Amino acid sequence: MGGSRELADTCVLRLERVTKRYRQGPRELTVLREVDLSLWPGELLVVLGPSGSGKTTLLNLMGGLDRVSTGHIRFGELDLATATAAQLTHYRRHHVGFVFQFFNLVPNLTAYENVELAAYLVEQPLPVDDLLEQFGLADRKTHFPAQLSGGEQQRVAIARAVVKRPALLLCDEPTGALDYETAKDVLGLIQELPERFGTTVVLVTHNQAIATIGHRVIRLRSGEVVAVSRNETPLAASELIW
Ligand SMILES: Nc1ncnc2c1ncn2[C@@H]1O[C@H](COP(=O)(O)OP(=O)(O)O)[C@@H](O)[C@H]1O
Ligand SMILES: [Mg+2]
Repeated sequence: MGGSRELADTCVLRLERVTKRYRQGPRELTVLREVDLSLWPGELLVVLGPSGSGKTTLLNLMGGLDRVSTGHIRFGELDLATATAAQLTHYRRHHVGFVFQFFNLVPNLTAYENVELAAYLVEQPLPVDDLLEQFGLADRKTHFPAQLSGGEQQRVAIARAVVKRPALLLCDEPTGALDYETAKDVLGLIQELPERFGTTVVLVTHNQAIATIGHRVIRLRSGEVVAVSRNETPLAASELIW
């Protein structure tokens, strides 16, 4: 992932001077300030920052769930800043997968049905059976979320996101609700996604140790990118200690 690669490839998503403000009564709160960032094909980018630093806000903007106050977010020809609501819906549906801390599975659908539901949204999904088997869920397909462990639920949620073959997979503290060993396990799965599916992955965390598994790390503090670094040899998730 050197400079030559960045010249050769076009980026998946480009953020240009992205600022986000929220109105709080009479005051305006600047939550993100002038963020410039490009996401490259097949990279695992870790966004590291303490609680309240703007990580979720950044992810929601990238995913077209929220709008910038100023700046641009370019996905090919589309600028999320000026896109219509219909264009944003299309972008979210076809190009973005989301993984959340608390899984957000549909409780009255089985593991299989949760993934199938997402597969219906696109024309050429991955085969649901294959994917669940690849994710170690072969014997969990007919279970409901409440019958699954946290780690299994998160695997289903990742399958649901990946089945659409999204260009971009956005993971917001995906191991925040899991115990240590399960968290490492799920991170191992996430770490394999760029290579297995060609997806660009953004992994948000407040845990410094987790940053070592990414190809690149950006640090957020009070809504500003204060450092960008590159891991020439990312650590395997199984080697993580925290
Ligand atoms: N919808 C909102 N309205 C007002 N303030 C918000 C809103 N969403 C987030 N914030 C504020 O923006 C800041 C960053 O929040 P967030 O992006 O959730 O940070 P993080 O994910 O890093 O914990 C916090 O101060 C939070 O209170
Ligand atoms: Mg957050």
